[in-house]
Amino acid sequence: MNTLLERRQRLLGQRMPLFYAEPVHIVRGEGVWLYEASGKRYMDMYNNVPCVGHANPRVVAAMQTQAGTLNVHSRYLHEGILDYAERLTGLHAEPLSRAVFCCTGTEASEIALLMARAATGGRGIICSDAGYHGNSTEVRRLSRRGAAESPEIRAIPYPQRYRPLESASEAELSELYLDRVRQAIADFAEHEVPFAGMFLCSLLFNEGLPDIPAGFMAGAAEIVREAGGVFIADEVQAGFCRSGNWWGYETSGFVPDIVTMGKPMGAGLPLAGVAARPELVDVFRDKTGYFNTFASSPLQAAVGTAVLDELEHRDLLGNTIAQCP
Ligand SMILES: Cc1ncc(COP(=O)(O)O)c(C=O)c1O
Repeated sequence: MNTLLERRQRLLGQRMPLFYAEPVHIVRGEGVWLYEASGKRYMDMYNNVPCVGHANPRVVAAMQTQAGTLNVHSRYLHEGILDYAERLTGLHAEPLSRAVFCCTGTEASEIALLMARAATGGRGIICSDAGYHGNSTEVRRLSRRGAAESPEIRAIPYPQRYRPLESASEAELSELYLDRVRQAIADFAEHEVPFAGMFLCSLLFNEGLPDIPAGFMAGAAEIVREAGGVFIADEVQAGFCRSGNWWGYETSGFVPDIVTMGKPMGAGLPLAGVAARPELVDVFRDKTGYFNTFASSPLQAAVGTAVLDELEHRDLLGNTIAQCP
C-alpha cells in the first residue's frame, strides 16, 4: 500500500485528493459492492455516478457493442443520438424539449451560462453562496468567493429552515430569501450589469440538502423571468430519479428554463448535457457554433440509452424509498 501511495504522490502530486486516513485500494466493482484485491468488499454508499450499479451488465454490453461498431464525433448523421435526445427530453417537463450534449457537469454548466447570456443579452448571474457547479474558470465564479471577485455574479444565502436568515414562519422565510433574489437583481441594475438569470441546484445538494422553505424555488423562477432572466437548474446531482422523481425540480416544485445533467447519466462514461426550451438552444447554437469532440457521439447515445433502459426496466424510480424535502 505504501509503495502505491508513494508512487501516486510522485506521479500525480502530493495534493491529489484521497479518501480516508487508511486509503482503500479498490480493484473491482459490481452492483452496490466495491472489492479490494483481498476480496474484502464494501457496500458503496458514496458514489453518485453509477446509480444503476457498478459494472452494470446492460451498460457494459451497450458500451462494448457500440465501441465495436462505430464511434465518431457529431458531424455525421446518426440515429442513436436523436433517439436518445428524444427519449431524454421526453422525460423532462414539456418546454425542455431540445438538448445539447457534452462530457462533464462543468461543461454543462458552461453551456448553460453561455445559453443564458446569449438568449438574454445579459451577463449577471445569481447563485447560492455554498453551491458547486464545476471547475472551469467561469463556472468557479458561481460561488461566494466568485461573487466577491466578479461584478457579474451575486451569491445569495442558500434558502434553508435549519439555520434560517431569521426566525420566521416558513412562508415568511421563503419571502425573506426571495427578497435576496430581488435585491441581487436590483443591485445588478444599479451597477449597470444587464441581468441574465439564476443558477441553482434543484435540491441544493452541495449546500447540504437543506430543508428549502416551500415556494422558494417556484417564486425565484418567477422573479427571475419577470426581470428578463432565465432560471438554470443544476440536475447533475439531483437528476435521474435520486429524489423520488425523475428530476429534482419536480421534487422542489418548479419548472426551469434550462437544466444541466451529468454524473449518473453515463454510469461512468463521460456523458453530460443540457436540456432547454427550443428557442434558447437555437440562440445558443447560432451564437456559439458549439462543438465538442467527444459529445453527441454514438457511444454516448448507446450508453445513455442503456442507463435509461436500466432505470426503467428495473423500476428504480418506483424503488426510491424516500422523497427528499
Ligand atoms: C451539482 C454539481 N454540478 C456540477 C458538477 C460538476 O460536474 P463534473 O465534475 O462532471 O464537471 C458537480 C460535481 O461534483 C456537481 O456536484
